[in-house]
Amino acid sequence: ANKRIGVIVGSLRKESFNKKIAHFLIEHAPMGYDLAMIEIGQLALYNQDYDEGDSPAAYQPFREALKSLDAVIFVTPEYNRSVPGVLKNAIDVGSRPYGKNCWDGKPAWVISSSISNLSGFGANHHLRQSLVFLNMPTMQQPEVYLANCQNLFDDDGKLSNADTAKFLQQSLEAFIQFTEKVRV
Ligand code: FNR
Repeated sequence: ANKRIGVIVGSLRKESFNKKIAHFLIEHAPMGYDLAMIEIGQLALYNQDYDEGDSPAAYQPFREALKSLDAVIFVTPEYNRSVPGVLKNAIDVGSRPYGKNCWDGKPAWVISSSISNLSGFGANHHLRQSLVFLNMPTMQQPEVYLANCQNLFDDDGKLSNADTAKFLQQSLEAFIQFTEKVRV
């Protein structure tokens, strides 16, 4: 069976540049790998009380989806120099109840992008900090920081910058190899 790689985007915006990057990766999945978007916008704000009783209906299918994955790709913008709340919430939901961390051991890749020159560096590295604790072996190189991402797409929202497209495809190939090395 094909290996399953989840793609999680840290922006809910309809025309999100990060979503467009995620779609580019999904369209360029190598043979033997299924890349699929894992939605996070439906997850109610995490509350630790949920771990002792009923939790929001969306939590269980999200956690099951995470458990079924062989690896995870995060594509995120930076909000106020850090991880957008919606993504941090999804990370927290997937990490609990205590002792049932759905992220455990899954190889991860972090891509950040922004409309400025700073390319989401702050979000990229704050996210990596959480992934250490969640025990997700995270690809170190190549690092992917996409600056001025509003200029990378054509009018149809397709990635049109050839250098970026090539870089992303090479980086995806590197991540596939990485997952094969570290997969648990
Ligand atoms: C931003 N943006 C932003 N950009 C950046 O480079 N560093 C930052 O710290 C922030 N902070 C920030 C906070 C909030 C609340 C918003 C809404 C935006 C701008 C951001 O890069 C831009 O909106 C991107 O288009 C967001 O990514 P998506 O939605 O296009 O994927």
